[in-house]
Amino acid sequence: MRVLVAGSGGREHALVWKIAQSPLVDGVWAAPGSDAMADDATLVPDVAAGDSEGLIRVARENQIELVVIGPEDPLADGVADRLRESGLRVFGPSAAAARLEGSKTFAREFMARHAIPQPAFATFTVLGEAIDHAKGLAGPCVVKADGLAAGKGVAVCDGPTDAEAALREIMADRRFGAAGDQVLVEERLEGEEASYYAISDGERVVTLASAQDHKRALDGDRGENTGGMGAYAPAPVVSPAVEKQVLEEIVHPTLRGMREEGAPFSGVLYVGLMIDEAGRPRVVEFNVRFGDPETQCLFVQMTGDLVPLLDGAARGQLEPQTVAAEDAAVCVVLASGGYPRSYETGKPIEGLAEAAAREGVVVFHAGTALDGEHFVTRGGRVLGVTARGPDVPTARARAYAAADEIRFEGLHRREDIAARALGR
Ligand code: AMP
Ligand code: GLY
Repeated sequence: MRVLVAGSGGREHALVWKIAQSPLVDGVWAAPGSDAMADDATLVPDVAAGDSEGLIRVARENQIELVVIGPEDPLADGVADRLRESGLRVFGPSAAAARLEGSKTFAREFMARHAIPQPAFATFTVLGEAIDHAKGLAGPCVVKADGLAAGKGVAVCDGPTDAEAALREIMADRRFGAAGDQVLVEERLEGEEASYYAISDGERVVTLASAQDHKRALDGDRGENTGGMGAYAPAPVVSPAVEKQVLEEIVHPTLRGMREEGAPFSGVLYVGLMIDEAGRPRVVEFNVRFGDPETQCLFVQMTGDLVPLLDGAARGQLEPQTVAAEDAAVCVVLASGGYPRSYETGKPIEGLAEAAAREGVVVFHAGTALDGEHFVTRGGRVLGVTARGPDVPTARARAYAAADEIRFEGLHRREDIAARALGR
């Protein structure tokens, strides 16, 4: 089978790497891909992940049988729909189903309609009303831009002063453009966060591992929200009892609800969870694609074949099964200084080969490019140094030892990825 992956980030590098290992696959293409994927895929750098016509052309020219769409924006824009209309087999939800991620208001109202556990929330299109509401709450809350903002449109606030500043940034300064035309002010949930991944063909479900992301820029979960500074899998907080609740109260009701509302969800449902002290999970957010960098962990950990799952979901014939995986994986993101705000690019990267030569380690490229024969930085998140192991402490030690090999000007990383799992 020939597979085309749309996207160019660390998640897509992990997808390409994992798909290329499948005995079912005899060729992988990546559009636009990134230079680092060239080991595993034929690159189509002039076709963007959101370019439906380009993707259809590449698929036709190369007898592609399965297209896997990595990022959320093309899904929200209906790229999967257009590819399906042209007769291609696609892993990734329709635009209608991608609203679970593309509009936080839609997602919250959907969860309310289907009694899926979530925080209290209110939505606003007028700045003054949102500020008044936050003042009325008088305590902690979370302010969110409704639309897609690369994981950065969320401010976790201690009180009305922070909330007002966040609301002004979204609605008056329009930091996220039209994504901030509508905002949500939510109850701030307390507990431990984890994410959970389930592949579905709209009806049947195959569950993957749980994982824990580190969204804040700085150690100790301080600083701004980012796309993710590192991850580990599995998340110990997702015990078998919690997992059962997640499936019964969240995953299955969501898939059923989407079917009932005429937008069956096929693809990977990524459930962002907050698990309180009593072990009760509530939904922080839905995403409609693989997590980045959690996926780097999931795929390095997974020993089984990913392709039958992607292809089964795309065909609408997913076969229920247990996915074989090693015990643990940890990913440490190496970012450009300044991320998630502005940063410089073009910095030469040293030590990639030394890092990749270490036991159990794979270095995924999130934002790099070749300059001649040498990789240089090209994005906010630059690399995802990922290691597997028999347990989280081993995987973590391997990932940091490999990350220590890598240098570039302005390199920023967190030192406490997976630290929470060490004490368990
Ligand atoms: P989101 O993009 O909606 O996942 O939000 C990004 C991050 O903000 C989450 O991973 C949480 O750490 C935090 N967050 C979002 N919503 C809430 C909430 N209602 N309560 C507490 N933290 C939240
Ligand atoms: N790591 C968070 C995300 O993929 O949305």
